[in-house]
Amino acid sequence: MLPAVSRMAFGAFQRRAFSASARDLSKVAVLGAAGGIGQPLSLLLKLNPRVTELALYDIRGGPGHWLRGYPSGLASAVKGADVILIPAGVPRKPGMTRDDLFNTNASIVRDLAKACAESAPEANLLIIANPVNSTVPICAEVYKARGAYNPKRLFGVTTLDVVRASRFVSETKGTDPKDENITVSKHPELSSNAEIINRVQFGGDEVVKAKDGAGSATLSMAMAGARMAESVLRAAQGEKGVVEPTFVDSPLYKDQGVDFFASKVELGPNGVEKILPIGEVNAAEEKLIEACLADLKKNIAKGVSFVQANPGK
Ligand SMILES: NC(=O)c1ccc[n+]([C@@H]2O[C@H](COP(=O)([O-])OP(=O)(O)OC[C@H]3O[C@@H](n4cnc5c(N)ncnc54)[C@H](O)[C@@H]3O)[C@@H](O)[C@H]2O)c1
Repeated sequence: MLPAVSRMAFGAFQRRAFSASARDLSKVAVLGAAGGIGQPLSLLLKLNPRVTELALYDIRGGPGHWLRGYPSGLASAVKGADVILIPAGVPRKPGMTRDDLFNTNASIVRDLAKACAESAPEANLLIIANPVNSTVPICAEVYKARGAYNPKRLFGVTTLDVVRASRFVSETKGTDPKDENITVSKHPELSSNAEIINRVQFGGDEVVKAKDGAGSATLSMAMAGARMAESVLRAAQGEKGVVEPTFVDSPLYKDQGVDFFASKVELGPNGVEKILPIGEVNAAEEKLIEACLADLKKNIAKGVSFVQANPGK
C-alpha cells in the first residue's frame, strides 16, 4: 500500500483552467515518480497552474505500475507531453561518486529515453538521474539512433547547484536566497570564497552523508527540478528572457572535444534559444574549468560508448 502522500501523487491529474488558452495547456510527465525526488517533484508540479495534465510513471509496485489513466503504460504516459522529467534511477550511498551510479542508471535512462524518442520526440526532456554528465549524452545517442535528436530539447538538470550557491551566499550576507541570482562567474561572494565553492561542489556529498545510506538530496532536488520545468514552460508559453543554468549540447568547448557543457541558457518556445557565454572568470576559476573539462570529456565519452555497445532492444 502506498503512503497517503504518494496515493495522492498517483491520482490521475487532469486540470483544465477555464481561463487558459490552448497554447497554455501543458502536459508534463515524471518518470520515476514514486521515488524520493519523484514524489515531492510531482506534488510541486501538481500545484503549478501551467501544468494542466500530469502523467506519473514508475515501476515500483511491480513492473508496469503506472498512473491510472495510462493503460498502455510508459508510451501513453509520455505521449503528447511538453516536458518529461526523468528522476528514475538509484541514488548515491555514502562514499559513492555520481559516476559509481553509471552501471545501474545508464540502462534505466537509455530505456526510458527510447520510449520518449518513439512516443514523444517533440517533448523537452529534463534529465535528473545521475551521473547527469553521462545520462544526457546517453539520451542524445538514443535519439540520434532514431533520427529524432533535437539538441534544443535535451537538458541536464543542474539547477540544484545554483539553488545551493544562492542559499550559501545568502547565509553569509543575510539576504534572501531568491535575490541571489548566482552562476559560475561574476559573483564576487562566490568567486572569492573558496569555502563556498567547495560547499557547492560537495553539497550533494553532505546530504548523502547526513542521510547515511537512505538516499541523496530529494526535497531540494524536487524544488530545483520543478523550477527548471516551470522555466521551460514559461518560455514555451511565450515569455521572453527566461534564463536557467543547464547542461546541454553546447558550442562553448566543442573545439576542445567537449560536446556538452552547463552554462546559462536562454529558453524559448523551441527549447534552447541561446547558449550564453561563461563570461569573465578569474585565474582560480579558470583552473577549475580546466580540471572539469578533462573529467567531463571522459563522462560524455562513457555515455556515448555505453549506448553504442549496448543499444538495447
Ligand atoms: N541532478 C541532480 O542534481 C540530482 C540531485 C539528487 C539526486 N539525483 C539523482 O536522481 C536519481 C533519483 O534519486 P531518488 O533519490 O529519487 O531515488 P529513489 O530510489 O528514491 O527513486 C528512484 C525511483 O525511480 C524508479 N525507477 C527505477 N527504474 C525505473 C524505470 N525503469 N522506470 C521508471 N521508474 C524507475 C524507482 O522505482 C524509484 O521509485 C538518482 O540517480 C540520483 O542520483 C540527481
